Amino acid sequence: MLAKKRGTYTYLFVFGILSLTLFSFKYAVEKYNAFYPAELWKDNNGVHINAHGGGILFHNGLYYWYGEHKIAGYEGNKAHVGVHVYTSTDLYNWTDKGIALSVDTVDTKSDIAKGCILERPKVIYNKKTGKFVMWFHLELKGMKYAAARSGVAVSDSPTGPFTFIRSLRPNKGAWAINAKDFHKKGVLSASTVTRKDLNGVRDPQKVDALNILGRDFKGGQMARDMNLFVDDDGKAYHIFSSEENSTTHIAELSDDYLSHTGKYVRCFVGMFMEAPTLFKTSEGKYYFIGSGCSGWKPNTARSAVADDLFGPWKRLGNPCIGEHAETTFDSQSTYVLPVQGKKDTFIFMADRWTPKNAIDGRYIWLPIYFEGGKPQIKWLDKWSL
Ligand code: DGJ
Repeated sequence: MLAKKRGTYTYLFVFGILSLTLFSFKYAVEKYNAFYPAELWKDNNGVHINAHGGGILFHNGLYYWYGEHKIAGYEGNKAHVGVHVYTSTDLYNWTDKGIALSVDTVDTKSDIAKGCILERPKVIYNKKTGKFVMWFHLELKGMKYAAARSGVAVSDSPTGPFTFIRSLRPNKGAWAINAKDFHKKGVLSASTVTRKDLNGVRDPQKVDALNILGRDFKGGQMARDMNLFVDDDGKAYHIFSSEENSTTHIAELSDDYLSHTGKYVRCFVGMFMEAPTLFKTSEGKYYFIGSGCSGWKPNTARSAVADDLFGPWKRLGNPCIGEHAETTFDSQSTYVLPVQGKKDTFIFMADRWTPKNAIDGRYIWLPIYFEGGKPQIKWLDKWSL
């Protein structure tokens, strides 16, 4: 009798262990020990990471990945939810920390009303104020890409919730440090320039002569694709596609990082660049990697180097090499990540957009090598640090 009972217990025990193993095997979340560019990238819940057009903050031993939360379908390119945040210690495995900044689902008149376009969010930490500051490209609901504004939000915690402060067009009433006399004199005549005047005009000098800078002097400069960069001295800079995307601006932020100081420079005048990224090497050189302008379709990346953020910038050409280098491996830059504790180790972060089903966008993370003072990026199916 006793032996029979013991047998039943043993059977139940073995059965229990087996079921538990099978259950955990089925639902176990993959642990990554490498990057797999363009593959689905699952978070701690086994869900593809939803942080497109993203950027990384490193704070107190943790990496925070902020990006656009997309939903399925073409409508998913608009902001229906907000900015998603994930954390990681090793850059391979990411834990979902939820929505850091939510769009306004109540007030349809809010600048960040659900259905607006909220792209390329980036977060930096301000040591003086102890606040986390988020900037992003904002297009007001129903206006397609006409508003060309920057939004700013703030939080006491890196995972949020971030509070939206305002949106604006940067540097209202301020001239770029390298603005020319003809820009300043031409403010009134420039006020009639429209996007149509740019149609087919690609000669940088002719583009500049239209004086879009002067047109927007009073109301503030257009700001679309963007990034943030904090220099070693704690000063922060906002880099964005301006002047109908024809010219890149690098603008200094105030000490609290919440506004622009009015000091800015125009770079790559008339060259139509998007997706700007900035990084700095230990020898004090500033590098730029960006893209051309072709909507969601990939194009050839561009790079440049400077000894000073305000220029002059020396163009270095396409940093990508090998097959599909001409389309940036079918992706577009979003951030260059300095790996902590590894001198001059940088990761090129890019998006492979899938506009028909926005949520399925893939992440292309590749190492940056330096060859003769130029950044170089090669395709790898799998790699680790
Ligand atoms: C390219 C930009 O880089 C993206 O962020 C997005 O604005 C698309 N254009 C929209 O077409």
